[in-house]
Amino acid sequence: MDADAIAGDLTTVLYTPDQIRERVGELARDIDRDYADKDVLLVGVLNGAVMVMADLCRAMQSHCEMDWMAVSSYGSGTKSSGVVRFLKDLSADIHDRHVLVVEDIIDTGLTLNWLLSNLTSRGPASLEVAAMFRKPDAMQTDIDCKYVGFDIPGEFVVGYGLDFDGKYRNYDGLAILDPRVYN
Ligand code: XMP
Ligand code: MG
Repeated sequence: MDADAIAGDLTTVLYTPDQIRERVGELARDIDRDYADKDVLLVGVLNGAVMVMADLCRAMQSHCEMDWMAVSSYGSGTKSSGVVRFLKDLSADIHDRHVLVVEDIIDTGLTLNWLLSNLTSRGPASLEVAAMFRKPDAMQTDIDCKYVGFDIPGEFVVGYGLDFDGKYRNYDGLAILDPRVYN
Protein backbone atom coordinates (compact mmCIF):
# COMPACT_ATOMS: atom_id res chain seq x y z
CA MET A 1 0.00 0.00 0.00
CA ASP A 2 1.08 3.58 -0.54
CA ALA A 3 1.04 6.58 1.81
CA ASP A 4 -2.27 7.85 0.38
CA ALA A 5 -4.04 4.71 1.54
CA ILE A 6 -3.15 5.36 5.19
CA ALA A 7 -2.57 9.13 5.14
CA GLY A 8 -4.87 9.66 8.13
CA ASP A 9 -2.69 7.43 10.34
CA LEU A 10 0.66 9.05 9.50
CA THR A 11 2.18 12.32 10.66
CA THR A 12 5.29 12.52 8.44
CA VAL A 13 6.55 10.47 5.53
CA LEU A 14 10.29 10.12 6.13
CA TYR A 15 11.27 8.14 3.02
CA THR A 16 9.53 7.34 -0.24
CA PRO A 17 9.86 3.96 -1.97
CA ASP A 18 12.26 5.55 -4.49
CA GLN A 19 14.53 6.88 -1.75
CA ILE A 20 14.54 3.52 -0.01
CA ARG A 21 15.30 1.68 -3.26
CA GLU A 22 18.22 3.96 -4.04
CA ARG A 23 19.71 3.55 -0.57
CA VAL A 24 19.28 -0.24 -0.64
CA GLY A 25 21.21 -0.24 -3.94
CA GLU A 26 24.06 1.63 -2.31
CA LEU A 27 24.18 -0.77 0.62
CA ALA A 28 24.18 -3.72 -1.80
CA ARG A 29 27.18 -2.28 -3.63
CA ASP A 30 29.06 -1.85 -0.34
CA ILE A 31 28.26 -5.42 0.67
CA ASP A 32 29.27 -6.79 -2.76
CA ARG A 33 32.60 -5.01 -2.42
CA ASP A 34 33.28 -6.11 1.17
CA TYR A 35 32.38 -9.76 0.55
CA ALA A 36 33.93 -10.03 -2.92
CA ASP A 37 36.31 -12.79 -1.77
CA LYS A 38 34.05 -14.62 0.69
CA ASP A 39 30.65 -16.31 0.79
CA VAL A 40 28.17 -14.35 2.83
CA LEU A 41 25.24 -15.79 4.74
CA LEU A 42 22.48 -13.24 5.15
CA VAL A 43 20.55 -13.80 8.37
CA GLY A 44 17.20 -12.03 8.37
CA VAL A 45 15.34 -11.25 11.55
CA LEU A 46 11.65 -12.02 11.10
CA ASN A 47 9.22 -10.49 10.50
CA GLY A 48 10.40 -6.93 10.06
CA ALA A 49 13.43 -7.66 7.87
CA VAL A 50 11.46 -9.44 5.15
CA MET A 51 11.23 -6.37 2.89
CA VAL A 52 14.82 -5.20 3.27
CA MET A 53 16.13 -8.75 2.84
CA ALA A 54 14.12 -9.27 -0.34
CA ASP A 55 15.28 -5.99 -1.87
CA LEU A 56 18.86 -6.10 -0.61
CA CYS A 57 19.68 -9.59 -1.83
CA ARG A 58 18.23 -8.86 -5.27
CA ALA A 59 20.25 -5.64 -5.54
CA MET A 60 23.44 -7.59 -4.81
CA GLN A 61 25.48 -8.91 -7.73
CA SER A 62 27.25 -11.64 -5.76
CA HIS A 63 25.88 -14.97 -4.55
CA CYS A 64 24.46 -15.09 -1.09
CA GLU A 65 22.70 -17.62 1.07
CA MET A 66 19.79 -16.68 3.27
CA ASP A 67 18.55 -17.89 6.60
CA TRP A 68 16.04 -16.57 9.10
CA MET A 69 15.51 -16.27 12.78
CA ALA A 70 12.61 -14.87 14.73
CA VAL A 71 12.72 -13.11 18.05
CA SER A 72 10.19 -11.03 19.85
CA SER A 73 10.75 -8.14 22.22
CA TYR A 74 7.73 -5.92 21.80
CA GLY A 75 4.43 -7.73 22.14
CA SER A 76 1.87 -5.36 20.70
CA GLY A 77 3.21 -2.15 22.25
CA THR A 78 5.62 0.43 20.92
CA LYS A 79 8.42 0.16 23.50
CA SER A 80 11.17 -2.43 23.62
CA SER A 81 10.79 -4.60 26.69
CA GLY A 82 14.44 -5.68 26.68
CA VAL A 83 13.17 -9.21 27.26
CA VAL A 84 13.83 -11.20 24.12
CA ARG A 85 11.95 -14.36 23.25
CA PHE A 86 13.39 -16.82 20.75
CA LEU A 87 10.62 -17.83 18.35
CA LYS A 88 12.59 -19.48 15.55
CA ASP A 89 16.23 -20.47 15.31
CA LEU A 90 18.41 -20.62 12.19
CA SER A 91 18.41 -23.68 9.98
CA ALA A 92 22.08 -23.27 9.11
CA ASP A 93 25.12 -23.98 11.25
CA ILE A 94 26.97 -20.65 11.21
CA HIS A 95 30.27 -21.98 12.59
CA ASP A 96 33.08 -20.57 10.39
CA ARG A 97 30.58 -18.75 8.17
CA HIS A 98 30.63 -15.07 7.25
CA VAL A 99 27.36 -13.91 8.73
CA LEU A 100 25.61 -10.64 7.95
CA VAL A 101 22.57 -10.00 10.11
CA VAL A 102 19.89 -8.08 8.21
CA GLU A 103 17.64 -6.00 10.45
CA ASP A 104 14.75 -3.69 9.80
CA ILE A 105 15.53 -1.23 12.56
CA ILE A 106 17.81 -0.66 15.53
CA ASP A 107 15.87 1.22 18.18
CA THR A 108 17.20 0.66 21.72
CA GLY A 109 19.50 -2.00 20.28
CA LEU A 110 18.58 -4.37 23.13
CA THR A 111 17.20 -7.04 20.81
CA LEU A 112 20.16 -6.98 18.48
CA ASN A 113 22.60 -6.95 21.36
CA TRP A 114 21.08 -10.15 22.69
CA LEU A 115 21.02 -11.65 19.20
CA LEU A 116 24.65 -10.83 18.48
CA SER A 117 25.94 -12.42 21.66
CA ASN A 118 23.87 -15.50 20.91
CA LEU A 119 25.29 -15.73 17.37
CA THR A 120 28.84 -14.98 18.50
CA SER A 121 28.75 -18.02 20.79
CA ARG A 122 28.30 -20.22 17.70
CA GLY A 123 31.72 -19.27 16.33
CA PRO A 124 31.08 -17.52 13.00
CA ALA A 125 34.12 -16.55 10.89
CA SER A 126 32.77 -12.99 10.93
CA LEU A 127 29.63 -11.27 12.15
CA GLU A 128 28.35 -7.93 10.87
CA VAL A 129 25.05 -6.07 10.86
CA ALA A 130 23.08 -4.32 8.15
CA ALA A 131 20.12 -2.30 9.43
CA MET A 132 17.80 -0.38 7.14
CA PHE A 133 16.91 2.16 9.84
CA ARG A 134 18.53 3.23 13.10
CA LYS A 135 17.39 5.58 15.87
CA PRO A 136 20.67 6.95 17.27
CA ASP A 137 18.90 8.88 20.06
CA ALA A 138 17.14 5.77 21.35
CA MET A 139 20.11 3.39 21.44
CA GLN A 140 20.92 2.00 24.87
CA THR A 141 23.80 -0.24 23.86
CA ASP A 142 26.91 0.20 21.83
CA ILE A 143 26.40 -1.78 18.64
CA ASP A 144 28.78 -1.60 15.75
CA CYS A 145 26.48 -1.63 12.73
CA LYS A 146 28.55 -1.73 9.56
CA TYR A 147 25.75 -0.95 7.10
CA VAL A 148 23.01 1.54 7.96
CA GLY A 149 20.33 2.67 5.54
CA PHE A 150 19.08 5.77 7.31
CA ASP A 151 19.41 7.31 10.75
CA ILE A 152 15.95 8.47 11.81
CA PRO A 153 14.31 10.38 14.67
CA GLY A 154 13.28 8.54 17.83
CA GLU A 155 9.59 8.31 16.99
CA PHE A 156 7.64 5.14 16.28
CA VAL A 157 7.73 4.46 12.56
CA VAL A 158 5.92 2.07 10.25
CA GLY A 159 6.31 0.72 6.75
CA TYR A 160 8.85 -1.21 4.72
CA GLY A 161 8.40 -4.23 6.99
CA LEU A 162 7.81 -2.34 10.22
CA ASP A 163 4.42 -2.83 11.80
CA PHE A 164 2.21 -1.61 14.57
CA ASP A 165 0.18 -4.49 15.96
CA GLY A 166 0.68 -6.41 12.72
CA LYS A 167 -0.43 -3.56 10.47
CA TYR A 168 1.37 -1.16 8.07
CA ARG A 169 4.12 -3.68 7.27
CA ASN A 170 3.14 -3.59 3.61
CA TYR A 171 3.21 0.20 3.36
CA ASP A 172 5.94 0.82 0.77
CA GLY A 173 7.59 3.89 2.36
CA LEU A 174 8.66 4.77 5.90
CA ALA A 175 6.59 7.17 7.99
CA ILE A 176 6.05 8.31 11.55
CA LEU A 177 2.86 6.76 12.91
CA ASP A 178 0.43 9.25 14.40
CA PRO A 179 0.52 8.62 18.19
CA ARG A 180 -3.27 8.85 18.09
CA VAL A 181 -3.22 5.36 16.57
CA TYR A 182 -1.53 3.71 19.58
CA ASN A 183 -2.48 5.99 22.48
P1 XMP B 1 15.08 -2.61 19.85
O1 XMP B 1 14.51 -1.48 20.67
O2 XMP B 1 15.34 -3.79 20.71
O3 XMP B 1 13.97 -2.96 18.80
O4 XMP B 1 16.29 -2.15 19.08
C1 XMP B 1 13.59 -4.26 18.56
C2 XMP B 1 12.60 -4.43 17.45
O5 XMP B 1 11.46 -3.64 17.70
C3 XMP B 1 10.88 -3.24 16.52
N1 XMP B 1 10.85 -1.78 16.46
C4 XMP B 1 9.96 -1.06 15.77
N2 XMP B 1 8.93 -1.46 15.00
N3 XMP B 1 8.45 0.80 14.53
C5 XMP B 1 8.17 -0.50 14.39
O6 XMP B 1 7.23 -0.82 13.69
C6 XMP B 1 9.46 1.29 15.28
O7 XMP B 1 9.67 2.50 15.36
C7 XMP B 1 10.27 0.29 15.94
N4 XMP B 1 11.33 0.37 16.76
C8 XMP B 1 11.66 -0.91 17.04
C9 XMP B 1 11.72 -3.81 15.41
O8 XMP B 1 11.22 -5.05 14.97
C10 XMP B 1 13.06 -4.00 16.07
O9 XMP B 1 13.83 -4.97 15.42
MG1 MG C 1 13.22 -6.50 14.02
